[in-house]
Amino acid sequence: MTESSAPKPPDPCAMVIFGAGGDLTKRLLVPALYNLAKTGLIPDNFLIIGADIAACSSEDWADSLHAALAEFVGNPNAEDQLSGIDPAIWSKFADRMHYVQGDFTKDEFYQLLTTKLEALENTHGTSGNRLFYLAVADRFFGPIVTQLGAAKLTAQTDDAKPWRRVVVEKPFGHSLESARALNQTILQSLAESQIYRIDHFLGKETVQNILALRFANSLFEPLWNRDRIDHVQITVAETVGVESRGKFYDVTGALRDMVPNHVFQLLAMVTMEPPTGFRPEAIRDKKFDLFTAIETLGEDDVVRGQYDEGAVSGQSCIAYRAEPNVAPTSNTETYVAMRVCINNWRWAGVRFYIRTGKHLPARMTEIAIRFKQAPLAAFQDTSLETLPPNWLILRIQPDEGISLKFEAKHPGQTMRLAPVAMEFRYAEWFTPQANIGYETLLYDCMIGDQTLFQRADMVEETWRVVQPVLDHWAASSAAIPLYRSGSPGPAAADELLSNDAKGRTWRDIALPQPHKMS
Ligand code: BG6
Repeated sequence: MTESSAPKPPDPCAMVIFGAGGDLTKRLLVPALYNLAKTGLIPDNFLIIGADIAACSSEDWADSLHAALAEFVGNPNAEDQLSGIDPAIWSKFADRMHYVQGDFTKDEFYQLLTTKLEALENTHGTSGNRLFYLAVADRFFGPIVTQLGAAKLTAQTDDAKPWRRVVVEKPFGHSLESARALNQTILQSLAESQIYRIDHFLGKETVQNILALRFANSLFEPLWNRDRIDHVQITVAETVGVESRGKFYDVTGALRDMVPNHVFQLLAMVTMEPPTGFRPEAIRDKKFDLFTAIETLGEDDVVRGQYDEGAVSGQSCIAYRAEPNVAPTSNTETYVAMRVCINNWRWAGVRFYIRTGKHLPARMTEIAIRFKQAPLAAFQDTSLETLPPNWLILRIQPDEGISLKFEAKHPGQTMRLAPVAMEFRYAEWFTPQANIGYETLLYDCMIGDQTLFQRADMVEETWRVVQPVLDHWAASSAAIPLYRSGSPGPAAADELLSNDAKGRTWRDIALPQPHKMS
C-alpha cells in the first residue's frame, strides 16, 4: 500500500501459484490479477506458473481459469457489476500462463520447477524476481518453504536483486505453539523481509480507510481514548453457514477462523498508536505494540455457540451438526463473542466487545464506537438515561461507509430532540473499481511493501491472547450452547455487556436502514 497518488510500476516477476487448481486461485487470485492488469498494474514482463498435483496442460489450465473469470471478476459490492472480460487483457495472460504438475512433497517437483522457471524467466524477461504464492492447505506451508529453500529457489542476496518472496495464506497455525513452530520452520529458509503472511481483511478498502480516518484528520484523534470513548463493539456477522468447508471448519471453529487474524486486525487498526510515518515497519511496530497490550483472555471473557436449525433471510437452514463433513456430536463453535481489554495508557478501562458468527440475521461487519454520555441532560424532558449516546460506526461491509450519530433539534416550536446521522457512503463519493479484495495485497507483494502483511511476532502475540480459551474448551466436557440460525447468537453473549454496565447491549445485527425522518 504505497502512499502516493501515482502507483509505482511493479517489478518484472514470475509468480508461482502452489494450488493452481484450487478455489482460491480461481475465485480470488486470477480475478485479482486480471483487475490489476486492467488498471495497468501488472508488470510488462510477467509470468504465471501454476503448480498442482493433477495432470493438466498449460492451455487447459488457462482455459479453465478464463471460463471462471466472468463469474468472479466483478465487484460484488458495486451496484453495476463490472463484469465482462476484455479479450485484449486476457490474451496477455493466456500467453504468460504455464502449468507444472507434481507432488509438492517430492524433490523431483522442485527440480522440475527450477528447470521450468529458469527457461521461462529468460523468455519472459522477469529478471529473476519470483513470487511464490502458497494457495494450499496449511499443512504444506512449512514443507514447501523448506523445499523451496533447499532447491535454492528462494535464495536471495543482501541487496534483494533479484528478489524472492513467499506469500503464506491463512491459517497461520492452529495455536500459539503451532504458529511458533511454523515461524521457526519458514525462518530457517527465508528472511522475515521475504515473508508475506496474508490476511485478506487488510485488502478491504474500508479497513485501510481506518488509517486515513484516524491519521489524516485532526478531528477524531483527540477523542480516541478512554476519556471520551465508553466502549467499542466489533461485529463480523455472516449469513452463510459452513457451506462445503465442514472438514476444515469442524477442526477450526469460529475463534481460530476469524479472531486472531481478521478481527484482531480490525481491532489493531482502530486502537494502535499513530505511526511516525507511513512506512511498513513504522505501522507494523505500532500494531505489534498494540497486540502486546491486549490482555490474555480468560474463560469468562468468552462466550461460544453453535448454530441450530432455523431460517436466515427467509431460507430454512439445517443445524451445524447436520452439515456435510461435520461430526454429528460436534462441539465446534460457529459463533464467538468476547470482551477484550487493552492495557495501555490510551485504552485502560475501555471494553472492546467482539463477536463473529455464521447463520446470523444479516451479513454485517462493522466497528461501532460509542462515546461517553453527555455530562448533563440540559434539555427539558431529557434525562441522562434516555439521552441517546453518540456513535461513530465504521461500516466495513456491506454498504461501506461511516456514520456519525448525534442528537439534533426536531423542527418545531418546542425544543424536542431527535437522533440524526451524518453519513459517508463509499458508493456515493467514489466510482466503484473492480476489486475483489486481493488486488492491493498482490500489488504490494510485487512492489515489496509489507505494510499490510503480518510479521512473525504479530502472529504469535495474537495467538497468545486466545490460547487459554482454546485450551479451556479442549479440556471442557460442557455441551456447547446452541443458537437458532437467523438469531443474533446465544443469549449468554448479552451478559458480557450487561455484566459490565447496566443497560449496555449489543447493537442490532441488521443492514443499515434508509434515512428516516422523525
Ligand atoms: C475467511 C474465513 O478467512 O473469511 C471464512 O475462513 C469467512 O470462514 C471469511 O467466511 C470472511 O471473509 P469475507 O471477506 O467474506 O468477509
